[in-house]
Amino acid sequence: MAPVNVTVSAIKSMKLENRKIAAVTAWDFPSGRLADEAGIDLVLVGDSLAMTIRGDQNTLEITTDEMIYHSRLVARACRGPLVIADMPFMSYQVSPEQALENAGRFMKEAGVHGVKIEGGGPMVATTERLVAAGIPVLGHIGLTPQSIHLLGGYAAQGKTVDQAEALERSAVELEAAGVFALVLECVPDLLAKRITGRAAIPTIGIGAGPDCDGQIQVTADLLGLGDTAAPRHAKAFADLHSVGLAAMRGFKQEVVDGEFPTDKESIPAPEELVEFFGKESD
Ligand code: KIV
Repeated sequence: MAPVNVTVSAIKSMKLENRKIAAVTAWDFPSGRLADEAGIDLVLVGDSLAMTIRGDQNTLEITTDEMIYHSRLVARACRGPLVIADMPFMSYQVSPEQALENAGRFMKEAGVHGVKIEGGGPMVATTERLVAAGIPVLGHIGLTPQSIHLLGGYAAQGKTVDQAEALERSAVELEAAGVFALVLECVPDLLAKRITGRAAIPTIGIGAGPDCDGQIQVTADLLGLGDTAAPRHAKAFADLHSVGLAAMRGFKQEVVDGEFPTDKESIPAPEELVEFFGKESD
């Protein structure tokens, strides 16, 4: 059963109560309904949809308008979970004011409960600005895919002492700035455990080991939707690609063989039409 109206404070309390947070991504009404019906706590309209659903090479091209469109579909589908929209590349990095304007659009036009932004450093001031305006912010550090060209790829982060310390500092600063939870993506398990142990807010890991307060998975990976290899940190709990492919092939075969549609899927002509066309064809 879906949880009833999960709030930001409910997510924070889950850490105190030692209850794990289950979070997934969604991109439209059906994926949002699946998450809602499964009782997922937090649904992220992640910009990874640019790659998993649109077939983009990375997450850089998707626009604010496009993300608002997807967010609206998901927000409409989710009655229970907290729904968070990912702010796309260059919709918040320019200045805290730009971030505020665009985050406001997500809240007003899509009806989500908060936004996610990637990175530490300048995002600390941006977080403070959004939170001061009443907008819940989910932080995201470690592998931050919007910085792919700076990072040089999708490799794990925080593997050296310097990098690990920098990430720990970012976590502390973002918490002080007011993020309600923090996504840790692709960082060593020990580092995630340390950050989790020191933070009062929940951490939500993806490729960050079992000690985070919650876990998030990209739903396309979780459902096994794609026909390419998923990342190492992903686990497919179903193989919908194979199921979908078998269904498509079955449909095609029945059309080719003249087995579909049958009477069951057809609309029988009323007597009036039978008589009319019958006479006409005489
Ligand atoms: O866009 C996304 O799906 C994400 C998750 C990986 C956290 O940011």
